[in-house]
Amino acid sequence: MEKMRFRTTAIVKLLAFLVSCVFLVQNATGKTHHHKFVVNSSPQTRLCSNKHILTVNGQFPGPNLYVHRGDKAIIEVYNKAKDNITLHWHGVRQLKNPWSDGPEYITQCPIRTGKNFTYRIEFTTEEGTVWWHAHSGWARATVHGAIIVYPKPGTYYPFPKPHEENPIILGEWWKQDLNKITGEANITGGEPRLSDAYTINGQPGYLYPCSKQGTFTMMVEYGKTYLLRIINAVVNEELFFSIAKHRMTLVGTDGFYTKPLTTDYIMITPGQTMDVLLEADQPASHYFMAARSYSSAFGAGFDNTTTTAILEYRGSRYHPPTSPQFPSLPPHNQTQAATNFTKRLRSLASKDHPIDVPKDIDTRLFYTISVNLLNCTNTPCKGPYGKRFSASVNNISFVTPSIDLLRAYYYRIHGVFEEDFPSKPPKSFNYTADHLPENFLTPAFGTKVKILEYNSSVELILQGTNVLASDNHPIHIHGYSFYVVGWGFGNFNPRMDPLRYNLIDPPEETTVGVPQNGWVAIRFRADNPGVWLMHCHIENHQMWGMNAVFLVKEGRRSQARMFPPPDDLPDC
Ligand code: C2O
Ligand code: CU
Repeated sequence: MEKMRFRTTAIVKLLAFLVSCVFLVQNATGKTHHHKFVVNSSPQTRLCSNKHILTVNGQFPGPNLYVHRGDKAIIEVYNKAKDNITLHWHGVRQLKNPWSDGPEYITQCPIRTGKNFTYRIEFTTEEGTVWWHAHSGWARATVHGAIIVYPKPGTYYPFPKPHEENPIILGEWWKQDLNKITGEANITGGEPRLSDAYTINGQPGYLYPCSKQGTFTMMVEYGKTYLLRIINAVVNEELFFSIAKHRMTLVGTDGFYTKPLTTDYIMITPGQTMDVLLEADQPASHYFMAARSYSSAFGAGFDNTTTTAILEYRGSRYHPPTSPQFPSLPPHNQTQAATNFTKRLRSLASKDHPIDVPKDIDTRLFYTISVNLLNCTNTPCKGPYGKRFSASVNNISFVTPSIDLLRAYYYRIHGVFEEDFPSKPPKSFNYTADHLPENFLTPAFGTKVKILEYNSSVELILQGTNVLASDNHPIHIHGYSFYVVGWGFGNFNPRMDPLRYNLIDPPEETTVGVPQNGWVAIRFRADNPGVWLMHCHIENHQMWGMNAVFLVKEGRRSQARMFPPPDDLPDC
C-alpha cells in the first residue's frame, strides 16, 4: 500500500514535470503559424458601384493574423494579380531579418505576376496590435489586415481581461481604379483625386449611398468591457475617431502598452494602431462610432466625408436601428484637438513592461520634412502655380532605385545608392516662417542612405517646415520602435527644448505624427542591423519623395549580424 502510494505520487510528479517541460519549451520557442496569401484582383461592391480591387485571399480588409509574442509566422505569398506586389509587416521589428520587411526596392524587388515569395516573421518585442500591408505603390489601400499579438502564454494584459476584442480597421475607398488615379497624378504633377469614402472594417457606413445595409455592427452586452484594436490603414489622412456617449481608455499604441488614458476621441495617423477599452455602460440602444479626417494643410483638398459603424447593445428595441446617436468629433482642421490628445500619451513603463530610453546620445540627426514644388518644362502642371508636387527629407527628394538597397549593400553592388545622406539640412532657415522665399520650394534628388554604427544611440529631430504648406506628417521607421521624448510647435530650440524632454515614460511608437508646423524628438538604439526605410505614411507625400533610409551596420558578435538572404528572394 505504502509502496503503491509512493509510486503514484512519483508518477504524478514525473507527469507534472514533463508537462511543465513541454510548456517551457513551447514558451521559449513559441509557435510557428503557416499562412498562404494569394494576391489577386477581386470584384467588390461599395457606394453603388462595382469594381475590381487587389486583395489577399479575396478579402477586403485582408485576413487578420493572431499570434502570441515569441511566435513565428511563415507567410507564403503567391501573386496571381497583374500588378507587382510586396508585403510589409508594419510595426514588427524584424530583428536581424530585413529580408522579410517588404518595402519595394528597399529590401526586395517586387513579387511579379505568377511568382512566389515567403516572408518569415518573428514577433519579438511588440505586443498588442500591429498590421500588415502592401508596400508597393498604392496597393496598400486595399491590401492590408490586422496582426494581433497576444502576450506570451502564461503572461497577461496589464489591464483586466476584456469580455471580447474587435479589430477596427479604418480604410479609404475610391470608386475609380487606383492605378488610373496614380498614373494620372504622375502625368499631371497635381494632387491625386480625393477618395470617395472612408471605411470601418471595409464598410463606408450609414451616411453613404448604398452602404447603410452593410454598416459594420459591433454587438455589446451591458456591463461588459471590450477591447477595440483600431488601425489607421487610410492612405492619405489622419483621422479623428469617437464613439457616441462612450469614453475610451487607451491602453496601447503601435504594439506597446501605454498608461491608461481616458478620452472622448482619438487622433490616429495613417500607420498607427491604438488599443482602447470600451465599457458598455449606457442604456441599451444604438450608438455610432465615427471617423473623419483631421486635415491641417492650408489649401490642400481632403475627403470630408464621415464613416460610421454601429455599437449595438443586446436587447435594443429596434433592429435595424432607427436613428443611432452621433458622437461629436473635432472640426477637420483642429490641430489643437489633435495635439491635446497626443500630448497625453505615456508609456506604461512598468516592472513587467519596462522601457529603455537612450540617455547618452552619440548620433544626433536633424531632418526637415517638406512638401515641395518643381517647375514643369513644357505644359503647365496641375500642382499649385502650374508646378509639380514633390516632397523631401533634408531637402532631398528620394529617388527609388531599380535594385533593392539591401541587396546592393549585401552583395556590394556599386552605383545603386550613395552613403552621404546629410545629418542636418543643407542650410538652416526659419523652417516654420509664414512666408519663405520661392527658391526654397525646389528640392535636390538622390538615393542616399544614412549610415548608423551598430548599437549607436540616436536622437532624431523631425522638423516640419512651411515650405509649401505645413501639415501633420506621420513619420514611420521600419525595423525599429522609438521613444517620443519631446515635441513642440515652431522651430526646435536645441538649447531650451531638451530641458523639457520626457525621459521617464515617453510613448514608444513606430509611427509619430510630426505636428503641423512643429517638431518631434525621438530616440532609439541602432541595434537592428540592416537597411531600414523611414517615410511619411501619407501615401501622397511618400510618392512625392518624403523618404529616407537608415543603413545600420552589423556588429561583431553573431547576434549583431543579419540573417543570410532567403533563396527565393524575387529577381530584380
Ligand atoms: Cu506601414 Cu513603410 O509602412
Ligand atoms: Cu507627410
